[in-house]
Amino acid sequence: MTDALAMPFTAAAAAEKTSAHAARDIAVSLRGIGKTFQGTTALEAATLDIRKGEFFSLLGPSGCGKTTLLRIIGGFEHPTRGELLIGGKPMLDRRPFERRTNMVFQHGALFPHLTVAQNIAFGLEMSRQPRATIDRRVAEALDMVRLADFGGRGIDQLSGGQRQRVALARALVNDPEVLLLDEPLGALDLKLRLQMQDELKRLHREIGGTFVFVTHDQGEAISMSDRIAVMSRGRIEQVGAPRDIYEQPASRFVAEFMGHSNFYEGTVSLNPPEGAGEVMIRGTPFPCRVPPAFAVGSPVFIALRFERVEVVAAEASGGGMEGTLVEETYLGPTIQRTVDLGAMGRIISDTANNGREAPLGAGARVRVRWTPDSPTLLAP
Ligand SMILES: Nc1ncnc2c1ncn2[C@@H]1O[C@H](COP(=O)(O)OP(=O)(O)OP(=O)(O)O)[C@@H](O)[C@H]1O
Ligand SMILES: [Mg+2]
Repeated sequence: MTDALAMPFTAAAAAEKTSAHAARDIAVSLRGIGKTFQGTTALEAATLDIRKGEFFSLLGPSGCGKTTLLRIIGGFEHPTRGELLIGGKPMLDRRPFERRTNMVFQHGALFPHLTVAQNIAFGLEMSRQPRATIDRRVAEALDMVRLADFGGRGIDQLSGGQRQRVALARALVNDPEVLLLDEPLGALDLKLRLQMQDELKRLHREIGGTFVFVTHDQGEAISMSDRIAVMSRGRIEQVGAPRDIYEQPASRFVAEFMGHSNFYEGTVSLNPPEGAGEVMIRGTPFPCRVPPAFAVGSPVFIALRFERVEVVAAEASGGGMEGTLVEETYLGPTIQRTVDLGAMGRIISDTANNGREAPLGAGARVRVRWTPDSPTLLAP
């Protein structure tokens, strides 16, 4: 894990790191939160600070524990171990409605027999707010999700996207400090999904609260978030800004989950103090920057993104490794090429289609190259 805020929690370390000022900026603090369901560990000791005002995403494949973590923050699930602070206060003994959180559920159940406005008003009515306050806040919430004229409609008279917006309004109406969103766009088609992503970002800017957003879609997490926690099998693998996670994956899982990469295993054969080094992959020297931590002889795992590999005709100037183009696929915005590098195996390149280059053609002798910083080296 590269983010200091995600380091394993110890009381002493936290006391050292969390100055009074820093603590004030933290909306949600998870300290060694774990959850076991009848012998299945859904969540290992999760330690994480979510900052105030942040658009924070929990990203990971199905079953990795995203919903469990969100439900624990919202108070719908009690952890097996660990501590949870919201706004600096311990929360585990408080019920959901006693927390300044609100949740949009993964399978957002709206009441089908109530109108849009009645659905949104439900929580306020339960807490016995005056009628005028309820009406005003419902109207504001409808405005925020751009459904001002829909208050009187039945739920079955709405499109999927409109229902999602009602679910959002229902959570927003209570003016939560922390909004918990469990795959709120999961059921939408691509076009509507993109539209709702914009709407959510706009809401986040307008409201200024803390959003904790669950998704299994890496593109969505990258485009929406200030920071992302990538999860796998109940563990937080890495926490960081989208760029850090994409450019510097801290584990093989993150490298494989984010984007498309070529993967190789090899042994460090050259690690000069300056300039590019070399990893030997099945007898073939592979040029790359080798971090000082990897001494000559260390086994390494290499990830090299498709879009970082350039393929040029063999006679073009400049360095690179020589190989044979086995496949060239036109994908519209990009062109994907697979090159056979002999003993080392194959490498895939996926680069922008600039409209100026003629196809190289399968069977052509080519050279592949990348900048020394492009490959990510990880301990296997
Ligand atoms: N009430 C429960 N009883 C038993 N096991 C559970 C329960 N809730 C969740 N689990 C298990 O805990 C693990 C994590 O589940 P969780 O719902 O948090 O995953 P998720 O990341 O939200 O997945 P998805 O993307 O499919 O929604 C899974 O293995 C799941 O089967
Ligand atoms: Mg889930």
